[in-house]
Amino acid sequence: NSNELILAIETSCDETSAAIIKNGREILSNVVSSQIESHKRFGGVVPEIASRHHVEQMTIIIEQAMKEADVTFENLSAVAVTEGPGLVGALLIGVSAAKAIAFAHDLPLIGVHHIAGHIYANQLVQPLSFPLLALVVSGGHTELVYMKEDGSFSIIGETRDDAVGEAYDKVARTLGLPYPGGPHIDRLAAEGSETIDFPRSWLEADSYDFSFSGLKSSVINTLHNYKQRGEEVKIEDVAASFQASVIDVLVGKTKKAVREFEVKQLLLAGGVAANKGLRAALEKEFATADVDLLIPPLSLCTDNAAMIGAAASVKWKKSEFASYDLNGNPGLDL
Ligand code: KG4
Ligand code: ZN
Repeated sequence: NSNELILAIETSCDETSAAIIKNGREILSNVVSSQIESHKRFGGVVPEIASRHHVEQMTIIIEQAMKEADVTFENLSAVAVTEGPGLVGALLIGVSAAKAIAFAHDLPLIGVHHIAGHIYANQLVQPLSFPLLALVVSGGHTELVYMKEDGSFSIIGETRDDAVGEAYDKVARTLGLPYPGGPHIDRLAAEGSETIDFPRSWLEADSYDFSFSGLKSSVINTLHNYKQRGEEVKIEDVAASFQASVIDVLVGKTKKAVREFEVKQLLLAGGVAANKGLRAALEKEFATADVDLLIPPLSLCTDNAAMIGAAASVKWKKSEFASYDLNGNPGLDL
């Protein structure tokens, strides 16, 4: 059998997911079980609850992914799993499951970095061409990543405080919106207009780093001031003004990096890549540019195992396998 078939597992945060990926590009199945409902009443992910859900769901989700793809363990080329970063207890469930399957069926084991997965989600849309630049925006990460070739990552800029998704979720919480707040702000922003001039944090002129905590505080203070004055403010306008500030900085810094590094492709990656405003702004900015803009479909933006399978394919080709002492690593470097 010349087809490469990878079973991929993702449990780094609050989605339990398993997928079967053929030849690094084709999704035979991608089953995602979200725990959002269980975390909602706490306003964020509770690590202990996340681990428990993963334990309950893991084997069911793997079985379902295998069934949907119509494969058996004997057909598989390898088992891949997110080894980090993420919640350590959550990661451990996926890693343990992957190790057990690899051992029982004598399959190579592949450890994947969660952010590499988000970036390689784009390979499920179109083949990658290098050098490329990836704008990674998720709940835990905000990074500009330069890739000279497959599997090589260099971070040219990153957030110095909050990740974009984190800022979205915190602002949403202040506005009384449910967790995760990103999609709600996105929806409200489309109905509002930019009536408040929130700050843009550009940092030093030559820096590709980001900072979103000042913006978050500014939104909180502004809301507080309106309340004290007994004035009404439209929540849609707050959302639109906040989102405009975020998008300005993300697109501005990305544009500069695309020019400096002369890349062939620009990839959008991570949960915040689902943001309609950001997608539209990038499409507008790079419509006529020399760079090829890749944006994954919504289902591949938030956490899923298909993206882990796509990233694992690169390691499979190089025989970069993990040993049985593979462990969940919450602080794993890209
Ligand atoms: O990548 P992801 O699923 O998990 C992490 O690895 O962090 O990203 C989750 C983050 C959350 O902060 C969520 O609010 C945000 O992505 N998000 C969005 C949108 N959809 C999800 N943020 C803004 N607009 C959206 N449409
Ligand atoms: Zn993620």
